[in-house]
Amino acid sequence: MAYNLRVPGPCAEPIDAQTRYCAVYGFPVKHSASPAMHNAALPILGLNWRYLAFEVEPAKLRPAIEGAQSMGFIGLNLTVPHKLLAVEMVDALDESARDFGAVNTIRFEGKDAGGHWLPLSELPQGAHEVRSHGFNTDAEAVTRAIREDLGLDLQGASVILLGAGGAGRTAALKLAAEGVGRLSLVNRTREKADDLANEIRRRAPRTKVLVGYPDGNVDLVLNATSLGLKPDDSLPYSETEFAFKSSMAVYDMIYRPAQTPFLKQAKQAGCRVANGLGMLLYQGARALELWTGKPAPVAAMRQALQAHMDSHG
Ligand code: ATR
Repeated sequence: MAYNLRVPGPCAEPIDAQTRYCAVYGFPVKHSASPAMHNAALPILGLNWRYLAFEVEPAKLRPAIEGAQSMGFIGLNLTVPHKLLAVEMVDALDESARDFGAVNTIRFEGKDAGGHWLPLSELPQGAHEVRSHGFNTDAEAVTRAIREDLGLDLQGASVILLGAGGAGRTAALKLAAEGVGRLSLVNRTREKADDLANEIRRRAPRTKVLVGYPDGNVDLVLNATSLGLKPDDSLPYSETEFAFKSSMAVYDMIYRPAQTPFLKQAKQAGCRVANGLGMLLYQGARALELWTGKPAPVAAMRQALQAHMDSHG
């Protein structure tokens, strides 16, 4: 048995008949760092809760959500490939989930005597009518990570976004909603970038959107492609069309490996850089706040995440 001595903090109470549960569902899920992050936070908040991970096939997502709901789970996180599927499966959708068309957090809620839906953490355990309420905490996490980990003010900023898949779309819509001045979308499949550009023009007309590399000043380059996950991946940008400058902030949504060749190049050019660990942290911190109603112990969660990455590679 290996004990992790690098994450000090209060010990969890033993599991007993009053222990409450949260979980992440994914397919696959075995690399998830969420249990480490949340189980470090729960005892700090004085909660006799545990956070579990389940590998759930997409075809079984609906009964798996219903099962957790029936068993009094506090909430769920959903990861690849469940986030889009779950939009159709929850009883209520928060604006955040509606805006981005994806659910990464479910909060189970019970009806109180006055007919109001409250998080289960605010109700005594027992018989309630329970519903599932879907939220999206990923989008908020993108901009929080850029602000806090790179110290960048997004208002009026000029941004190059690499990638127009699911993660790229969420980032683009959130950046535009936060008032970035110019958004340049670069994607292997040009039509996807065109479609996304049109969506942003409709939803955030104040942001100037173009497809391709921009001329002039760039404040932030954000990698939302999957390039860099594998050791022999090519770079996510074209070196003939673009070069890093030391004034730029550079964010890679990838956190495993901790330093992709893209981030390494940016760092060598003197840019401020951060990897996607912050995004993972902040989406988890917000989910925990939705479940508990208490501020998340972000520093301890970051430390637990880092320790998990260090020991699992
Ligand atoms: P996610 O949900 O993580 O965003 P995704 O929707 O599959 O996953 O998107 C992956 C992104 O990485 C896309 O922008 C994809 O480009 P395409 O839209 O052209 O598919 C990009 N990507 C993946 N593999 C790539 C490769 N070999 N070269 C260039 N871009 C790649």
